[in-house]
This record gives sequence, C-alpha cells and structure tokens, in this order.
Amino acid sequence: MDKPLKEEIASRRTFAIISHPDAGKTTITEKLLYFGGAIRDAGTVKGKKSGKFATSDWMEIEKQRGISVTSSVMQFDYDGKRVNILDTPGHEDFSEDTYRTLMAVDAAVMMVDSAKGIEPQTIKLFKVCRMRGIPIFTFINKMDRQGKEPLELMEELEEVLGIESYAMNWPIGMGKEFIGIYDRFNNRVEQVRVDEDKRFLALNEDGGLAEPHQMTETSYYQQALDDVLLLNEAGNDFDEERIAKGDLTPVFFGSALTNFGVQTFLETFLQFSPAPQPRITKDETTIDPYSEEFSGFIFKIQANMNPAHRDRIAFVRIVSGAFTRGMTVTVPRISKTFKLTQTTQFLADDRETVDEAVAGDIIGLHDTGNYQIGDTVIGGKSSFQFDALPQFTPELFVRVTAKNVMKSKHFHKGILQLVQEGAIQYYRTLHTEEVLLGAVGQLQFEVFEHRMKNEYNVEVRMEHIGLKVARWIENEDAVKESMAGQRAMLVKDRFDNLVFLFENDFAMRWFHDKYPEIQLYSLL
Ligand code: G4P
Repeated sequence: MDKPLKEEIASRRTFAIISHPDAGKTTITEKLLYFGGAIRDAGTVKGKKSGKFATSDWMEIEKQRGISVTSSVMQFDYDGKRVNILDTPGHEDFSEDTYRTLMAVDAAVMMVDSAKGIEPQTIKLFKVCRMRGIPIFTFINKMDRQGKEPLELMEELEEVLGIESYAMNWPIGMGKEFIGIYDRFNNRVEQVRVDEDKRFLALNEDGGLAEPHQMTETSYYQQALDDVLLLNEAGNDFDEERIAKGDLTPVFFGSALTNFGVQTFLETFLQFSPAPQPRITKDETTIDPYSEEFSGFIFKIQANMNPAHRDRIAFVRIVSGAFTRGMTVTVPRISKTFKLTQTTQFLADDRETVDEAVAGDIIGLHDTGNYQIGDTVIGGKSSFQFDALPQFTPELFVRVTAKNVMKSKHFHKGILQLVQEGAIQYYRTLHTEEVLLGAVGQLQFEVFEHRMKNEYNVEVRMEHIGLKVARWIENEDAVKESMAGQRAMLVKDRFDNLVFLFENDFAMRWFHDKYPEIQLYSLL
C-alpha cells in the first residue's frame, strides 16, 4: 500500500447504483469508469445493439432480455479516492439481491429517467434503500431528450418516494434545446457542446452570469433563473448532516449518454459521500473500519461466473483493517480457518488477483462451497459475527422437479448451489420431501430454470402451488401437523425452521383466529 492504513481507508468510497431498467445505469457506470481511467474508451463497456455487453452483464439471460440480473463490482481511482461501484439488478423481482448489495455499501446513487419520472419498480428499490439509512444521491438522466419538467420531477421525487430533495444543479432547456446546467453548488453555469476552455461560466453575486453571454437572451436561461430563485426561496436548504442520514437527497440533472454533467456529479458526489462506515455485530459491538484487525462479511455468492471454470466466488465487503493475500481468516459460523490465496478484485474489463485491500473494498474469494451469504470473516483472534443479512419473505411458491428423474443428483446440486447464492429460497414438505421454491418475483424462477439448464444440465418442471403468504413460527413446539390443511401448508425452510404457507391473507387471519397460541412472523 502506498499510504498509511488510515489514509488508505479514508480514501475509499463504496456505493451502489439503483435504477429502473433502462434509466441509464450501465451508461453512467461506463462514463464514471472512463473518468477514473479504468477504461480507455467510453464505448467499450456497453453497447447492447453492437453485441458488446457491459462487464456487469455476465449471464446469457441478461443478454437475451437486456436486463441486469446479477450484481457486479468495479473499482477505479479518481482525485485521490479509490471508488468501488456495486451494480445492482434493476428489476424489482431481484430486490432481495439489491438489498444485500446495499448492505455492502456506504451510499447509493439513484438514476431516474427524466422522461419517465419515478417508475413503480424504482419505488420498491428505493424503499429497500431507505431501510438501510444510507445517503442517497439522485441523478436525473437523459436531459438531452424531451422529458418532464424539472420542477415536476422534483415534486414527484418528494411525493412518491417521500424523501426531501435539494437540487445541486438545474437544467437550462432540455432535449434539442438543452444548453447547459445552472450549477447551484459550484456557482457556475456548465455549457453543453462547447470547447473545454469555454465550458464553465462564472456567476455573479445575484446569481446571474458574471460576463455578458448570448445564453442570457434565451427563454431557457430565464426560466432556469426563475426556477432557481423559487428553489432558493421555497426549497430545502443544503444540509450535509441530513444528506448523511439519507433524509435529504442531493439531485443532479445531466445526460449520461452525451457525458454531460457526469464529471461534476462525480466530483461533488465524492466530496459528500461517506468514507467506510462502522458496522454492528450480532452482540451489538461496533466494529471501527480503522481498527487493525481485518474483518468483513460475505454479501454475495456467485457461481459459474466463468462457465469455462465452473468457479464460485464469494464477495466480501471489508469492514475493518487490511487484507493481504495469503492471510488466514476464521469464519466463526463454522469455526473454521481458511488461507486466502485465491482472491480477486474486479476491474472494468477483467478480474485480477488482489494482493492487498482495505476497509471499504470488495474482494472475491474463491469458494469451494464453504461460505454462505452473511458469513463473517476475521483475520485476527476476535470472534464475532456481523448482523445477519435479512431475507425477504417470498410471495411466490412453486413445486419443482427434474423432468428427467435420472438427473436427480445434478438437480439437487444445482438447487443447493443456487439457494446458497441466494438466487432463490428453498423449502421442503415435511414427509414427502418435495422441493418447493420461494421467490420475491417471477423472474427469479425464470432465471433459476435457465441456470439449471445451462449450468447444471437439468431441465426442471415448475408448478405454482397457489400459496402466497409465508409465516415463520416463534413457538415451533406448539405447532401440530394437524393445523395444516388445504389453505395452509406446513413446510421447512433450508435451516429446518417450520414455515406455514397460506393461500392468502384471509387464510392466514382465519388460521390466526383458530390457533391464537401460534405466534407467526414474517421476514423483511
Ligand atoms: P440500464 O443499465 O439502467 O438498464 O440502462 P442503460 O445504460 O443500458 O441505458 C438504456 C438506454 O438508454 C440505452 O439505449 C442508452 O443508450 C440510453 N441512454 C442512457 N443514458 C442516456 C442519456 O443520457 N440520454 C439518452 N438520450 N439516452 C440515454 P438503448 O437504445 O437501449 O441501447 P444502446 O444500443 O444505445 O446501447
């Protein structure tokens, strides 16, 4: 490491981008990597139509559907900071995966398409983000296209998402008439489509342009000035503390595709996004990122990232201290130690072996089936476990079987691995041992089916069982099998906890009235 440990850690910025599919997450990621020098040409990461794919689009199904199913990690340096970007699946069906990714970051960036405004799927992802209580930065994208009025977008943001906002900048015109942004934060106007030396125009004390300029003649400029005046008088104040708590979101307008406003966004974001934050353990001890002892937790496991190698990688968010390759770590859950020799970090266009990393960074551990999502890894003598990663309560259930009974071994191996990855939830019936799968969204089943076929060579048959509401049981001893019936099935989850699956809320309430002594609860 070039700097002392404390300085290294303080320079880390680790965040995730959440957005509705197509809002421009991949495009902005590419531009950020470009500014960070991680890619040479801003056209290399992405280009769905040209047949090239973002590095984050690993899986075949993502290519087919043009959606991002898995999360990936990318790293670059900018302005003395080392930035880790974690990609999240844009689709709400994968919000559980998104939530686990959000557990591993210290801030989130929300991308919004200016023409579409806040879309229903964003609402769910955003709620998941709010639960984490981390700072949220908003980038309203595609200003080079005709979209909704900026004030309307701000209003929508506050009303639909229930978060207060502060516009860091304001668009001057939009679509073909998009001529620049009024940068409230840096007191300047940034012009579109001009040479670099003419890009910024200074403002005077009254908030107008300091030097005469033809832009002032346009109605767009006048409109922007009026809007900014309104925001100054009636809008929220800029408040760093409220941003840090996730109560106020700084809003940036720009265009990722034409690379406008992205660099200013990056610089301002890096100024206000937090350095690695402490984490809490199960026994409520706070682990300081700057403490010497290496610790971290596994927030994601991904099998078959490279089909040629059939490998499995466990992603670790480093919480404290430094990692060096070859070090020995303990996993307290299983009281086992491992020597970490095969470790990876993630660059824009490749994975490479990582020798050193510090709190805030994400590293990949080669996994032969030892790790589970949520596992704590510790490099020293301490023994603690970080708070568990929450599971969502699934709302869809299917019974799954292999089409070819001869494939039963592969079938069970595939299910086990995909369940360990957190791709799907596993349940089984009590005596017949039928396998049931639970999901938050239908697409999870489709991805499961696809991966079983492609990665494990097993075709599966899935039938919906018509049960929607899952409830775990506080006092399992009080449960009798006779309490189950047509509208309530008694099953076990993968940890052997009993779970009732009800047909609907009505059936659950009926059950509750009949057996008030059974204490039911749901997950997240
Ligand atoms: P996602 O990862 O959030 O799903 O979105 P992605 O970046 O893939 O962008 C979705 C589409 O929106 C892409 O077009 C992309 O070029 C376009 N886009 C992104 N940012 C902007 C912007 O600032 N302005 C405009 N006008 N378009 C933008 P596509 O046609 O689906 O794919 P492609 O063939 O252009 O890659």
